[in-house]
Amino acid sequence: MTAGRGRERQNEIYTAGVAGRVPRVPTNFAELERRARKAMSERAWAYIAGGAGEGRTMTANREALGRWAIVPRILRDVSHRDLSIDLFGAHLRAPILFAPVGAGGLALPEADIHIGHAAAELGVPYIFSNQGSAPMESVAAEMDRVRPGAPRWFQLYWSTDDDLVDSLLARAEKSGAQAIAVTLDTTMLGWRPQDLNLGSLPFAKAEGIAQYTSDPRFAEIVAERAAAPAGDKPEISLGAIKTLFSIARSTPGALLRNLVRPEPRVGVQTFLDIYSRPSLSWAEIETLRERTSLPIVLKGVLHPDDARAAVGVGIDGIIVSNHGGRQIDGEISSIDALTDIAPVVDGRCKILVDSGIYTGADVFKALALGADAVCIGRPHMYGLAIDGAAGARDAVANIIAELDLTLGLAGHTAVSDLSVDALRRV
Ligand code: FNR
Repeated sequence: MTAGRGRERQNEIYTAGVAGRVPRVPTNFAELERRARKAMSERAWAYIAGGAGEGRTMTANREALGRWAIVPRILRDVSHRDLSIDLFGAHLRAPILFAPVGAGGLALPEADIHIGHAAAELGVPYIFSNQGSAPMESVAAEMDRVRPGAPRWFQLYWSTDDDLVDSLLARAEKSGAQAIAVTLDTTMLGWRPQDLNLGSLPFAKAEGIAQYTSDPRFAEIVAERAAAPAGDKPEISLGAIKTLFSIARSTPGALLRNLVRPEPRVGVQTFLDIYSRPSLSWAEIETLRERTSLPIVLKGVLHPDDARAAVGVGIDGIIVSNHGGRQIDGEISSIDALTDIAPVVDGRCKILVDSGIYTGADVFKALALGADAVCIGRPHMYGLAIDGAAGARDAVANIIAELDLTLGLAGHTAVSDLSVDALRRV
């Protein structure tokens, strides 16, 4: 039996400290964020750290956690602690997943490959984003190289083209995905002033469309469109030329050829036209069962009635999430939504939660409030920006370590036994 992940991580850090080395990735969120900002371009910071409107949902996510306090119990034997959970037939070493994050290439080229590497090292699942910066097959291969069969899921944005949806699902199954998370809160992009003020939409520069440019069905749609007579001539300016280079670089194939052929530009326009379906309804969700044999998880559930409906149509899990506060300003915090939803679901499907959950103590609270597992978004992106794959790994390893210590210090020995009794509302 080991000392546990908390003490192991502390030992690693303090032992390096004796030799004069300090951790490259800060161990608290505020410092992690500050250092990540320094490591990123202005555009990357705006997209990754930014939120909707005045940022009130992001603040609400943190404040809601602050309204719950951990009430420790003493004199219980906490020498052995169990962080593991069972989720859709998989035994996971910690109740934590890497949330899907699109356009991560803004922080580091082919971000998803590095994040996949990090997740595989830790043995926790990585949810591949539909808006990834590397094709899912490449990420899966990297994960298998590190740890064969390392757990992974695929996150789907439901396109207006059903054949594209089926193609993405088939590729995800072939890439070893163990569940499909369908994101439902982004039928349109939220009002994001940080990006708007820079006029910066990563996808318009082909950043974060690698799952599309690597897809055979998408290639068919682009070929049809490229063959159609050209519309208005594109504007010629320094900015437009830079964008053209960015698109050519981000599209598979030789740079020079990509600069002259129409497909890369048409690909970007096609993506913008078809990536999401604002008309999406329960009717499409009900067809998912025939489209995939994998467990289905709905991401972006915040209302108890929607959670009830999800259980009603046989959904396997939900992610209580406000997309890290990136979609609606002044939205309910994910923790407040969780406290409404957990009693309604009452164990009939798995509940995951994300948005503003940045520390081990935060994860502890989310689990005690009824979540089965937690997804981590910005912290792993900040680690990535600071120190690549090792940084993404360490950012999440630190959260797991603090969770382990918090569990024991609060007098508990298994995350799966936590309940609201461990907390008090303050
Ligand atoms: C996201 N998120 C997201 N979600 C999703 O389903 N598909 C996606 O492509 C993305 N892209 C994305 C990009 C960036 C830069 C961020 C920060 C987030 C939302 C993500 O999965 C998760 O819900 C939030 O990140 C959780 O909130 P925190 O942990 O970032 O506060």
